[in-house]
Amino acid sequence: MDLPQSSQRWIEAGEALLPDLIALRRAIHAEPELGLHLPLTTAKAKAALAGLPLEIHEGPSTTGFMAVLRGPANGRTVLLRGDMDALPLHEDTGLEFSSQHDGAMHACGHDTHVAMLAGAARALCARKDELAGTVIFMFQPGEEGHHGARWMMDDGLLDVVTPDAAFALHVSPNVPSGVFAGRAGPLLAAADRFEIAVTGRGGHASQPHDACDPIPIACEIVTAIQAMVTRTVPAFDPVVVTVGRIEAGTTNNVIPERAVIEGTIRSFSEHSRELAHAGLARLAPNIAAAHGASAVVDIDPGFPVTVCKAPAVDLAERVATDLFGAQAWRTMPSPAMGAEDFAYVLQKVPGAMVFLGATPQGGDFRSCCALHSNRMVLDENVMARGVAMHCAYAEAFLSGGFEP
Ligand code: NI
Repeated sequence: MDLPQSSQRWIEAGEALLPDLIALRRAIHAEPELGLHLPLTTAKAKAALAGLPLEIHEGPSTTGFMAVLRGPANGRTVLLRGDMDALPLHEDTGLEFSSQHDGAMHACGHDTHVAMLAGAARALCARKDELAGTVIFMFQPGEEGHHGARWMMDDGLLDVVTPDAAFALHVSPNVPSGVFAGRAGPLLAAADRFEIAVTGRGGHASQPHDACDPIPIACEIVTAIQAMVTRTVPAFDPVVVTVGRIEAGTTNNVIPERAVIEGTIRSFSEHSRELAHAGLARLAPNIAAAHGASAVVDIDPGFPVTVCKAPAVDLAERVATDLFGAQAWRTMPSPAMGAEDFAYVLQKVPGAMVFLGATPQGGDFRSCCALHSNRMVLDENVMARGVAMHCAYAEAFLSGGFEP
């Protein structure tokens, strides 16, 4: 299909809204909130939508909400999503609108996501009568490990109005400013936390034969995990298991009773994810038993793999290049090992997540501070492009962009 000849008006809408987007983004940035309940952020987002012809749907589990825009026709429905929460770290950017909440910072750019989604709502509402269907704006808290998308789905918010396709943008300082980047298939990894507690028998460090030392057993488990990954997981379906914490003992001359290992499992398919889980569950107790100790494995499942459907990514590429030219799109050669809870939405609804480059002015995208850094700074001007992309993607999908 051909894209609607409306690119220019979405570009102009984004540019006209930019001063408002910057003001909203800075206000949210200065008052970051963590987790599933973000009263200040939600209030700012709703204030930005005041007066627009939107139905608001909320659930009991979070302060997130769905704002629904119904066009005149009973066509398809597209969901646009923006996450809203900050991270628990101290901000060191020196920006004039830096966090006023010590211990919290918008270091993942979700402040810009809220502003772009609110801007897209405003721009699409202005052309409501031309829409060939319905647009859902999903304002979602709790992305940073709190399963906010899943809570909103468990609250039934995806069932009030059921989307046929879903789309999300994520800014990144490590993609050139204004460039959209995406890929079909797995985009981001599943991320599961694990803890292994090895229990032996404490004693005097000079007499290990009278004790059961859990420390060498824990070390053996750490190396066995790496061998397990390379020997049981197919090489073309990669898994990363990293032990990030190992803790045991109190001093030089005491053998402790326990050693604890904590780490993360990153994977790109349910098959390899299950192989890694089963491998940990098999190795740790058996290695411990071989030495007369015991081990308990606890796996805390995190976000699933973020999988983008090829037709949805193709549409994003066509929309981005139609708006801003061929240079404005990059197909990512490989997925990244980060994780994202939009994965829950994409498990139910075909769609895509796309990165939007936001390298700070004067910075180098290869070396500037990454997302989650205490010094992460963004080029907020790219929000105008983000609004145009949201709007044009929604319009293109509703006009028949791809078969869901
Ligand atoms: Ni993020």
